[in-house]
Amino acid sequence: TPTNVFEQLSLKGKVVVVNGAADGIGLAVAEAMAEAGADVAFWYNSNDAAIKKAQELATSHSIKTQAYKVDVSNADSVQKNITQVVKAFGKIDVFVANAGMAISKPILEQTLEEYHKQMTVNVDGIVYCSKFVGEVFKRQGFGNLILTSSMSAKIVNVPVDQPVYNATKAFVTHFGKSLAREWREFARVNIVSPGFFDTKMGASPGCINEAYRMSSLGRQGHTKEIKGLYLYLASDASTYMTGSDVLIDGGYVL
Ligand code: NAI
Repeated sequence: TPTNVFEQLSLKGKVVVVNGAADGIGLAVAEAMAEAGADVAFWYNSNDAAIKKAQELATSHSIKTQAYKVDVSNADSVQKNITQVVKAFGKIDVFVANAGMAISKPILEQTLEEYHKQMTVNVDGIVYCSKFVGEVFKRQGFGNLILTSSMSAKIVNVPVDQPVYNATKAFVTHFGKSLAREWREFARVNIVSPGFFDTKMGASPGCINEAYRMSSLGRQGHTKEIKGLYLYLASDASTYMTGSDVLIDGGYVL
């Protein structure tokens, strides 16, 4: 690792996979990785704007990119696409497991299908991505996993009713910490816990008003304000960090 901090933050020569990269936080993270010089595998699900974005970033930053259509709640899809990335890029240095979804309704109003949908994307998806990329990390002898959890892993934010979502994020945080210990000899694992950000997921009046009323900074975060944190965790500036859960919430949880 270089001693100069700007050299530590460079991702030149690293291969980064970002899932949920078509929108919101994932797109900002994929941009951050490209801007820092990494080659980037863009995983998207439904929004194929990711394909064009990946091409644009390859040209503007002279990096290699490739878009992959993946359903993280399908184990075969995840396993197959991890194999494809390794075939195309030769290795995976960093995997950002960011895809997620929320159904904001009280449990008494949720159908069992709605419950299962959140579990399959937010819990099964995190397990499938972690397990299959972990096999690659172990074989390589190095790797770096970053999981997007939420401040709602720690607190129940009122007035947004999302009991199942909150619990899925508690799973993500504790699973990530457990993997940091399990994989200590070959990979780092860290967790990012955002507060209210101005994405599709955060677009409801409930989220906007709550951020305005209750966060110390009195507003939602913009996705450009989360790029540096993911860059730091993906880079060699954070080589002593593993098992950390970093809140970025405008001073909401205090
Ligand atoms: P978003 O709705 O803009 O993006 C979510 C992404 O996940 C989309 O690209 C979507 O295609 C992808 N996705 C959903 N289901 C998928 C599946 N089955 N397979 C593959 N990809 C799938 O929302 P946002 O805000 O960018 O969310 C990113 C992460 O940040 C999520 O894990 C979310 O829970 C978390 N988060 C967001 C907060 C916010 O206020 N926006 C607060 C705390 C956490």
